[in-house]
Parts: sequence; structure tokens; C-alpha cells
Amino acid sequence: MFYPEEKLEEIKDRLDVVDLIGSYVKLKKSGSGYVGLCPFHSEKTPSFSVSPGRQSFHCFGCGKGGDIFWFVKEYENISYPEAIRQLAERAGVTLPELNYSRKAKEREKKRERLFAANKEAARYFYYLLRAPAGKEGMAYLERRGLTQDTIHRFGLGFAASGRDNLVKYLKEKGFTDAEIRDAALAKYDEKWGLHDHFWNRVMFPIQDVSGRVIGFGGRVMGEGEPKYLNSQESPVFDKSRNLYGLNFARASRKKRFILCEGYMDVISQHQAGFTEAVASLGTAFTPGQAALLRKYDSDIYLAYDSDGAGTKAAIRAGEILREAGMSGKIISLKPYKDPDEFVRNLGAEEYEKRILDAENLFLFEVRSLYETIDRRDPAARTRFASETAAKLLRFEDAIERDNYLSSVASTYGIDPGALKGKVAELAGREQLRAIRAPVVTSQERAREKAKKEGTSEKLLLRRFFEEPESLDIAVKYLSPEDFTVPPTGELAALIFALGKDKLSLNNIVGELDEETGEYAAGLFSTPAEEYEWDADRKKVLFEMIRAVKQHSLEKHSEDLDIGRVVEIRNVIAGLEKEIAAIE
Ligand code: GTP
Ligand code: MN
Repeated sequence: MFYPEEKLEEIKDRLDVVDLIGSYVKLKKSGSGYVGLCPFHSEKTPSFSVSPGRQSFHCFGCGKGGDIFWFVKEYENISYPEAIRQLAERAGVTLPELNYSRKAKEREKKRERLFAANKEAARYFYYLLRAPAGKEGMAYLERRGLTQDTIHRFGLGFAASGRDNLVKYLKEKGFTDAEIRDAALAKYDEKWGLHDHFWNRVMFPIQDVSGRVIGFGGRVMGEGEPKYLNSQESPVFDKSRNLYGLNFARASRKKRFILCEGYMDVISQHQAGFTEAVASLGTAFTPGQAALLRKYDSDIYLAYDSDGAGTKAAIRAGEILREAGMSGKIISLKPYKDPDEFVRNLGAEEYEKRILDAENLFLFEVRSLYETIDRRDPAARTRFASETAAKLLRFEDAIERDNYLSSVASTYGIDPGALKGKVAELAGREQLRAIRAPVVTSQERAREKAKKEGTSEKLLLRRFFEEPESLDIAVKYLSPEDFTVPPTGELAALIFALGKDKLSLNNIVGELDEETGEYAAGLFSTPAEEYEWDADRKKVLFEMIRAVKQHSLEKHSEDLDIGRVVEIRNVIAGLEKEIAAIE
């Protein structure tokens, strides 16, 4: 299936894995490979590695890995074949017409349909806002100060009252009940049948980074609960890995992002010229979103609500940024509640000044704490100093820590020497805790765990990618049913069916669902453990085969008749002899 292997090799030759991934992620030479910060999860120290030898990448933190196509697929959130086509173009390689596998074709088609349904729904809402039925919605948006231009640019719309207006419309356009439901545009229940998810709301289409509509937020007009209703997640809508407004903000050329909480905040800021504003999608800021922003290497400014909840959310967002190896500053919006109100009342110039005056997130956090204490109470002041010392522990770099320490000491009138002493004391305690923590896990437990997680199954499958000849040996002893830990069985079936000559990532991912495909790509890219390169790789291979067979026997022994059990025991005994012979 998929594209011919020679073509893929040609692309890989022309676009070296280090050059290609290096154009997305900052890489540093390390040993025989390269390392960098993983773009798929938040981290401060690099666990993402690229291997020129294997022409693959692998993250030891989150387990993601694969070849260059898989990288682009994950990074751009497109399908594997789409990624192949994109890179073929970049490499100047012409691909033949594609021979999709049935499963891949279906998955591709399904996603396309869900994008299409969302787009069609956006059109429908857009049209309604301008129709007599949308009068109230339009008046609402105008009252909130949006120009026609802005309303158009963000594709705002309106969902009228009624049980199934959108469902009917989409069905007329040829969408099936299942598609409408899977796109999270409608819900089904016994009483109402298939009915619209949104009604009587102003609609904000949510676009992914390339501008495709993936979901909606809908706001009630005036008071009402919930104030905002958002689409449920769907195969095309992942709330934790998208940001509202990013499709525009990434092209703003300002080398900064303003991160805020609400759709209206983003729109207002864009209207005022701050097209670098983005917002999370009705949930708190996530590590996935931090990873998304990190790609652009821009400064991050937080414009969160100025109330207590906003302060807390901003501090949490700051933590997430820090865990992702980024930092941010916070914009003071006082005396206004949110950026929308600020910009509408004081205008762009004042806002720009506030951005220039934005406060370091650490200092903001300490100040927020200071504002909650009773300053006349010595006990409260002591607690404040200790908590501040604990926060200072975060800075691993001694100079950085010292700089912050002197800064807060002078601002809050704490003796710097005493504060330093407290920090040292806390650091010592933390070390002690780490030393005392029980780390011994019995060998037995480790073995049990390995069995449950299918470690041998996994290692064996991995070995097939690395050394296809090992497959010829394994098939003599094992069948796919022996791989009892999902999804290794499904993978083994596919790999055994392909045989060693056709075994490649390209040839298997199209046959698997998303999750199993991901698992396979991870396996494909995991570098061998040191011990697997031990003097006798052959012995390790036989040991893995034996472990898999043993697990299979334990798992199936109750369903098997005695003759079969004996047969399997004999196979295991045979394997043990092989192993002994190698020794
Ligand atoms: P306006 O009142 O329209 O200006 O909204 P706002 O953006 O000022 O609202 P708020 O600060 O209350 O909420 C910020 C963001 O949180 C919104 O844009 C929504 O994404 C989300 N949100 C607000 N209310 C709700 C709710 O009731 N349910 C859910 N799921 N999300 C909400
Ligand atoms: Mn608001």
C-alpha cells in the first residue's frame, strides 16, 4: 500500500533527517546524534533525539517517534500520506498516484468529511447572522464594539432557536447523521432524536493553525448559563493542542504572542491591531498549547482577567510555560477586567504601554502573594518570606536565583542574607527527601510489570524493524496470537503477514488505526537498549521469543487443551536449549 519504498528513500536521502527536523526544532549535536526540546510535550531538558543513522527521531519523554514523514504528520497535524506528499514536493520528488489501503482511505475520508461539515456549519451560522433571524445576534456583536470587518474576518455567526435547524441544513448538504454527530455539531438522545448542539447563541468558529474550522464556541446573548458553550472534542477538534486566533497570530510578524482567556478578548485585541493575541479554548492553558507556541520562538505575554481567578490561572499558565522551558510576562489590565474591556476603554496606545510595562511572572506571583497577607503581622511576614524562598528554589541557575533573590529582598524589605539562608535550608531538605525516598523495587515486581506492559513483546517487534532477518527466526516459534498484550497482537499479525522484505513503517501505518499507528511509529524509532547490543544479540533475540511464548502460555493455558499446552511447553524447552547452546 502507500507509496513505493524507493520513492520514500529518495525523499529521505534528499531531505536529511537532521536538516529537516532541525528546521522545526533547535538541535544540538550529542554523541552520534542530535538532541533538542521535544515539540510534542513540555520539557525543560532535552529528551528528544534525532538519529541520522536510523533517519528517525525519538522522544524518551513522551515516547513519540518515527521517520521524517511521521514527524511532519505529528507536527502539522496532517495525515501520514499528506506528510509524504508535502515532503516529496519539498524534495522535488514526483510521486505516483497513491494506492491507499482501505482503512487509511476511510480514515482520511472521514476526517475530510468532518472538516467539511464544520465548514458548512460555519457557513450556515455566518449566513444566519446576516439574515432576519440573526438580527439580535448582530445587534449584540455591534453593541460589543465589533466592526463589520472584524465580524467577517473571524467568520462570526449565529445559531437560531430551534431543535434541529443545523441538522436539517447539513443533511440537505449530504451529510449523514453519523457525520453530523461525530463532528460534535449535534447530539442524539431518545427524546429529541438528533438535535443541534447550539441554539440561540452568537457563534465563534474555532480554526486550526491552517485555518480549517474544527469546532465552535457559542455565547448566550446577555445573561444565561452556560455563558459559553463549546463543541465537544472530535477527531478534528483537540482543545489541548489548538489556540483560538493562532491562524492569524502566527502571521503577525511581531515575534510575540499575547495569551488570553476569551474569544472576545482575542477578537477585540485583533481589531485594535494586536493580531498576535491568542486564547485557550474554554479550558485552562495546556502543555500542548505551550508546545504549540514554543515553535515560533516568540515572547509570551499573558493578558488574563485581573480578578482572583484570573491571577490564579495566570500563575498556573506561567508554571506550564516554565515546564515547557519558556517564560512569560504578565500585562496589568487594571482597573479593567479583561483585555477586551481595556482596549475598548483606553485604546491601543495605552495597551501597548502596558505591554512594555509587563511584569515578570515570578515577581508577579510573589507580589500577588504579598497582597494577600497582613503585613503588620510578623508571623504572616515570616510565612511570606518562607514561601518566597520556596519559590526561589525553582531557579536551578545560581546566578538567576540570586538575581531574583536580591530583587524580592529589596522590594519587600527582607534581609537578603536571611532569605538566602532559608533557600539553602529548603534546598538541603529537598535533597534529603530525595535520598530517603524508597527507590528499591524488587526484581520480581519489575518482571511482573514488564509482563503486564508487554515489554518483551514490544522489544521483539522493535527488533523486527531493526533487523528484519530476526522475523524469519521468530516466525518459526511464534504466531501473532502469542502477542497477548494489546496492541502488539494486531501489529504482529500485520508484520508477520508482510514478511521481512516488505516490512517498513510506511507499509504498516496505513493499515492501523491512529493509536496503534502511533504505537508502531514509536517502536520503529526507539533506539536499541545498550544490552541489546551485547556480545550476543542472537541470545537476546531468543530470550525475547521465549518470554513472549511464556506469556502466551500463561495467558492461554486455561483455554487450551492439554495436548496443545504440552506442545507449547516443548517449544519453550526447545528455545531454552537454543539459548543454552549460545552460552
Ligand atoms: P464575555 O463576557 O463575552 O466578554 O466573555 P469573556 O471572554 O470575558 O468571558 P470569561 O472571562 O467569563 O471567559 C473566558 C473564556 O472562558 C471564554 O471565552 C470561554 O472560552 C470560556 N468560558 C466562559 N464561560 C464558560 C462556560 O460557561 N463554559 C465553558 N465551557 N467555557 C466558558
Ligand atoms: Mn469579557
